[in-house]
Amino acid sequence: MKTIVVLTGAGISAESGIKTFRDADGLWEGHDVMEVASPQGWQKNPNLVLDFYNQRRKQLLSVKPNKAHKALVDLEEKYHVEIITQNVDDLHERAGSSKVTHLHGELLKVRSTTNPEDVQEWKKDLVLGDFCKNNSQLRPHIVWFGEAVPKMEKAMQIVQQADILLIIGTSLVVYPAAGLMSYAPENTPVYLIDPNPTIEENENLHIIAEKASFGVPQLVDNLLTNL
Ligand code: APR
Repeated sequence: MKTIVVLTGAGISAESGIKTFRDADGLWEGHDVMEVASPQGWQKNPNLVLDFYNQRRKQLLSVKPNKAHKALVDLEEKYHVEIITQNVDDLHERAGSSKVTHLHGELLKVRSTTNPEDVQEWKKDLVLGDFCKNNSQLRPHIVWFGEAVPKMEKAMQIVQQADILLIIGTSLVVYPAAGLMSYAPENTPVYLIDPNPTIEENENLHIIAEKASFGVPQLVDNLLTNL
């Protein structure tokens, strides 16, 4: 069975109703990203950060996977599919994808501020005074700007196994995630689906300048029929 590795970004969830990051002048739901998504922002105003993620969590619980998330599940009929997502939503899992690696953390999880291994599921609001079992404040299980990306090593190893690489809805500007495609074996066919692609087509890179809900089901159909 061939392996398809899929790298997804905010664009795949846009049509579910979750805003992308860079389609709105560097503001993220009205906030400077550094205020709400950095260790410095957390030090300065933890209530603002918690409130921001509480809103995002509520929003996530009110939206659903779209046709693009669902089409990727169909690919599993004939391929070994590994999804590496920069998204913190759980829409790939809810659609039914079985192998999902979250590079930038998960909105529906929190972790201890003193023990990064102490992670738990969390669906309600998180507030100051919510403690882990060792009495330290809990924080969102999100990789903030300036923090290490613990899943990067695993993601690199996955990309090295790719027979085909799909890249969907990402501006490819945030590193180290943006560098992942360079770990694919030489001459691996790459398909990029994004209405505003930031890179150019070449011999191995095929650009499908469409929205995910249209471009992904079509490509999946082709990949299932032309094995
Ligand atoms: N279908 C497919 N792609 C779309 C759609 C859509 N309907 N709508 C927008 N896009 C594309 C945009 O053209 C853009 O290239 O999605 C991309 C979104 O880019 P970003 O907002 O930069 O999101 P992403 O690449 O996921 O950001 C990476 O940056 O802020 C951090 O940690 C955060 O994981 C995030 C990382």
